[in-house]
Amino acid sequence: MKIGIIVHSKTGNTSLVAERLKNRLEKEEHEVFMEKLSIIGGEDQSQQDVNKINIEPLEIALEEMDLLIFGGPVRGFQASPPIKALLGKVEGLEEKDAMIFVTHAFPFNWMGGNSAIKQMKNICIDKGANILFTGIIDWKNSKREVQIDSLVGSITRKTSGVTL
Ligand SMILES: Cc1cc2nc3c(=O)[nH]c(=O)nc-3n(C[C@H](O)[C@H](O)[C@H](O)COP(=O)(O)O)c2cc1C
Repeated sequence: MKIGIIVHSKTGNTSLVAERLKNRLEKEEHEVFMEKLSIIGGEDQSQQDVNKINIEPLEIALEEMDLLIFGGPVRGFQASPPIKALLGKVEGLEEKDAMIFVTHAFPFNWMGGNSAIKQMKNICIDKGANILFTGIIDWKNSKREVQIDSLVGSITRKTSGVTL
């Protein structure tokens, strides 16, 4: 399976999860393409207006992927503006299988994780994608490693057609 993993990550947490996922999926013989969003002019974390965030065109040919996985950090109890900017502009999600994950730092998923997932999911669904999985990593949780292992394991099982 050809899998595209596209993430926004400022301080590296979301990228680290994406790398772990990529390594695991490659062990399962998938062809994995990972890309981190690059923002033209650098990232201004105070910019909330998605229309003012210019993402470099993606190198991954989304239409060639069998599965797309989008990841990003939670920002201000929402999905990060750059990942929202990307999802708002991206084309080719019609009937595409997709998965979503976020990383966050506050102790409860209701402090941004859930709403970020909902926002990302809704944009993807509006564009016709089939959402097969969503996941949240609580970065400051003592069980973070377990959460990452669980997310990677769940996604890997789903790509093998086993939904345990
Ligand atoms: C400006 C800003 C706002 C944030 N807002 C939230 C928030 O509302 N809820 C939360 O749980 N974490 C919040 N965080 C923490 C990040 O979501 C968390 O550190 C995330 O793992 C960073 O991912 P990254 O290293 O991939 O950029 C915020 C971080 C920043 C810099």
